This record gives sequence, structure tokens and C-alpha cells, in this order.
Amino acid sequence: AALVSRSVRRRWRWGQAVALVRELEVACDTPVGRLRQVVDAMAVEMHAGLASDGGSKLKMLLTFIDNLPDGTEEGTYYALDLGGTNFRVLRVQLGGKGSMILSHKVESQPIPQELMTGTSEELFTFIASILKRFVQSENDGFQQLPDDRKDLGFTFSFPVKQLSISSGVLIKWTKGFSIEDAVGKDIAQCLNEAMTKIGLNMRVAALVNDTVGTLALGHYNDEDTVAAVIIGTGTNACYLERTDAIIKCQGLLTNSGAMVVNMEWGNFWSSHLPRTSYDIALDDESPNRNEQARITGFEKMISGMYLGDIVRRVLYRMAEESDIFLDPAKNLSVPFILRIMLLEKKCRHHPEGSSTNFLDDSPDLTEVGRVLEEHLKISRVPLKVRRLVVRVCDIVTRRASRLAAAGIVGMLKKTGRDGSGGVASGRTRGKPRRTVVVVEGGLYIGYTMFKQYLNEAIGEILGDEVAPYVLLKVSEDGSGIGAALLAAVYSSNR
Ligand code: GLC
Repeated sequence: AALVSRSVRRRWRWGQAVALVRELEVACDTPVGRLRQVVDAMAVEMHAGLASDGGSKLKMLLTFIDNLPDGTEEGTYYALDLGGTNFRVLRVQLGGKGSMILSHKVESQPIPQELMTGTSEELFTFIASILKRFVQSENDGFQQLPDDRKDLGFTFSFPVKQLSISSGVLIKWTKGFSIEDAVGKDIAQCLNEAMTKIGLNMRVAALVNDTVGTLALGHYNDEDTVAAVIIGTGTNACYLERTDAIIKCQGLLTNSGAMVVNMEWGNFWSSHLPRTSYDIALDDESPNRNEQARITGFEKMISGMYLGDIVRRVLYRMAEESDIFLDPAKNLSVPFILRIMLLEKKCRHHPEGSSTNFLDDSPDLTEVGRVLEEHLKISRVPLKVRRLVVRVCDIVTRRASRLAAAGIVGMLKKTGRDGSGGVASGRTRGKPRRTVVVVEGGLYIGYTMFKQYLNEAIGEILGDEVAPYVLLKVSEDGSGIGAALLAAVYSSNR
């Protein structure tokens, strides 16, 4: 009798766990009808954010970039890319018309955790010294004359209110950074001062968001590129907007009649987003809860910084309510201990390991077992349970990628490139216009399924007639290389 009741109890627990996963699946459902509502909400919010400052959760920040690189740029430019998990320094050599990028070199390193929450002086002195070391190691005759000042593109991937192409103040930190004294300061000036202090003769020629750098490189490679999206530690998008549509800046004149707008879509919220109890709990406990609005739909539902924690929350509840993990899973209660991005890093730097992540694991799911053991200290997880864990990851990732797809179509709708008709529909002689959107970021690059789900959803929303005209291109290191290109376009020496 004892044996029978143990087996009944075990089956009941398993049933409980499966029921929780089913419940999650329903709560995260994103049928195309719902995605279309998100598309519409995104387009409406974009209008509102362009109409007035504070008019929407979308900040729709001006970038002062009215000219994107076209391939005629020439010379050696440096860039510094700060804002994700890693920090990068780059050197890009541009050959001018016909020869494009001759070479580029990138050095990447993680940002020490203590610098993410220290003082602005510490952070900027640190990055300026890394840049100096990089430049000196180049051995490229950087024995500068005093007036031989180099132009730098600075990718700073946080919300910034630009004052000009080469200056702008930090509005708030996101993605776990929190250096209070930097808020409200001109970020380019902070870096310029740090460089002067350590004797590096460089100036920020372009201060840009990572989306903007990515768009610049995308456009350099293909002039039909009109928007860029980042899906990495955080998520965001920028696109080319007509200046007359930027109502909050009436009389804004640019040579091209357009300007790149940084949407800061991580802050987008709509009641149509499929929100679960796990998202609500995450809102309450996330690191930027004081700086960001309490409900920050998009970034928390899409980006790498948060997806791992949603998964952790689901597993924690499963462990508590159904006891499916044999080992006590204490680590499951620690917020942000599981970062799906940890896996991505492995994929990126070791191409041979590129198929080892949660979603593309081997048939016996060894990688899932390894991650559960290494990051959550749960060992001896049976295959059946590992499969359930993969399902949880898949549900959360699928929702993320489909929502990102809706965001992209929202941008296309706002700019009349979604084939929905109207004056600005982008149709020429009955055909939709070829439209390229570049996408960068570890989550998109590192996860095959993310890419696949996102593309599928775009196809579903746009339909067979329009979808073939919308191309999603992967970009790598675009945020940094693009900043160097923009430094070239806006160089004072040009
Ligand atoms: C966060 C930042 C945004 C950046 C994005 C991707 O959302 O606020 O500026 O573009 O992350 O890195």
C-alpha cells in the first residue's frame, strides 16, 4: 500500500508540474490576432511619442543623425561600445568609395560588476584606459602630434537626450546599471574629460545608441535598410523618420528631410501584451524598478536580461508546488541567478559549441542538465523533467520573439511599409517597397529558435503578399562599427 501511494503521489506531482506548464503556455499565447493588436498599439504609441515629450511610454528620442554612411567615408576611426554585458573597443579602417571597410579590429571584455554600480568617474576612467591601451597596442604610428586628434564613435546603449550629434545627457540607466551621479550628465563630456586626463588625444565625434550604430552599418551595406533592432541583454529599435512627422520638434530641418529616431521600445507597454503572474512578480523585483516605470512590458518580456529570470520563476514554482526536482533547489529562489545570456556567450565565442543552448540541445538534453547543475545547483534532474524545463524555455522564448516581431511590424506600419495601403503605404506601382531591418544582439544571434519564431511571426502578420519584401538581416558588431562609421560621417576633419 505504501508503494502504491508513493507512486500515486509521484504521478500527482508530475501532473501538477505539467499543469503549471500548460497554464504558462496559455498565458503566453500570442495568436496572430493578438500580435496585430500589439502592432497597432506600437504604431499609435510611436505617433504619440513623436507628438510630444512624455506623450507616450515610447520616448522616441531624436538622434540628430540625418545622414547615414554611404560608403564614401575614408580614414581610420575608433569606436567604443558600452551598454550590454560586454564592453568593446574597435578600430575601423575605411577605404572610401568602392573599397568600403578595409579592416576592423575588435576587443571585447566583460564590464566588472562593481563598475556598473560605482561612480561615473571610475567607469569612464576605466573605459578610457582600455581604449588607450588598445590604441597603443595597435602600433599604427599613433605617436600623435598634439593636434592630431582622432575621432571616436561612442556607442552608449542607454536612453540619452541628445543635445547634438556629439553630446547628450543620460535620462536613466537600464539593464542593471546604476551609477547615480551620471544621470543628467553629458555622457560624451564625461568620456572626453576622462580621455584628456589620461592623455589620450581623442574626441567623441558621434554619441549614439546601439540601435543607431547598427542602423548605420546596415545602411552602409544596403541602402534599403530603414530600421535596426537590438535583441540582447536589453531590447530596442530605431528607424528613419520623416522630419515633418516629428511633431514635437516643429521646424526641424535636415538636409535629407529625415532623422533617425531612437524609440527606446523596451519601455513600451500595451494591455494587449500577454502578461503572466511571473511578469508581474518580476516587475516588482527587478533592479531598475526605481528608475523605470513599474510596468515595463517589452524589455522584460523580450530581452536576455529578463528571460532567464522568468524561466527561473516558473521552475521555482514548479519545485515548490510539485517537488519534481530530486535535490532541494535553494538557488531557484535567487533573483537573476539564471541568465540565458550566459549560454549565448559560449555560443558566440566557441562556434563549435554553437548548438549547445537550452533550445538546441542534444536529444538527451545534456546541456540543460549542465546549466541546471552549474547555475542553479540542481543535480540529478531526470530526462523527463529536463524536457519540461526546455518546454518552459521554449514558451518564454516564443512569446519574446513573436512580440519582437509585432514591434518590428509596428515600425513598418508607422512608416507605411507594412502593405496596409494609404498615402504613405510604400507601394510603388502596386508593389510593396523592399525594406531591410537589421537585427543584432546575442539573443537573436545565439538562438536559432528565436530567429525562426520571429521570422515566422512576421510572415504571419504581414501575409504572403508583403512578407517577401521585408528582409531581416543579422548584424554582428554593427553597433560598434556603425558608431565608427558615424564618427567618419560627422568628423570635424571631413
Ligand atoms: C536598453 C536601453 C537601450 C538599448 C537597449 C539594447 O533598452 O535602454 O538604449 O538600446 O537596451 O541594448
